Amino acid sequence: MKLYRFLCLSGLVAGLVAVFVAAGPGYACACKKKTTGYFQKMGIEVAAAATGVLPGVAESLSGISGDPGRGRLVVINRKKGNCLACHKISKLSDQPFHGEIGPSLDGIARRYRESQLRQLVMDARKFFPQTVMPPFYVREGLYRVATKHQGKSILTAQEVEDVVAFLKTLR
Ligand code: HEC
Repeated sequence: MKLYRFLCLSGLVAGLVAVFVAAGPGYACACKKKTTGYFQKMGIEVAAAATGVLPGVAESLSGISGDPGRGRLVVINRKKGNCLACHKISKLSDQPFHGEIGPSLDGIARRYRESQLRQLVMDARKFFPQTVMPPFYVREGLYRVATKHQGKSILTAQEVEDVVAFLKTLR
């Protein structure tokens, strides 16, 4: 009787293990699916940024320079930048749940100039036309916007500047 129960249990455990092993790669694929920028795929991202080929917005949107501390708050705020939904930022390892939909932002200030970082936050489609990254400083041409958000950008001019100031600390 005991042997029977043992066999039954081990059969169950083996079955469960088999199911997880079979499903495992599927789950891993679904979570780890990354959309990296096409510049990165082409391997010219660093060179292009270094030579200033990529467009940028040189002037501060608010006329005031950004504050990295306030920028950090916008980046981690799930109702503002929500950048961690898609990006990993090691400097913010005190925050939970860093996404993998976009590339890690570690060292981003070494890859892009300030003007290019500003453009990326305002509207990353200039660099990556097919991107799922939201354009944070665009008022028109958005789809299915709730009435209360119509005519408004996701971030204010000063919030964009603060986020850019924070990104500049990621060296
Ligand atoms: C819905 C997901 C999503 C959110 C939210 C998001 N991004 Fe992105 N971001 C991406 C993806 C995906 C890319 C890569 C470009 C591509 O291939 O689409 C990207 C690219 C970037 C890049 C360029 C990275 C590189 O190595 O070329 C920067 C900088 C960036 N994002 C900053 C931010 C910041 C700052 C925020 C928050 C204010 C943010 N992103 C929010 C998805 C997102």
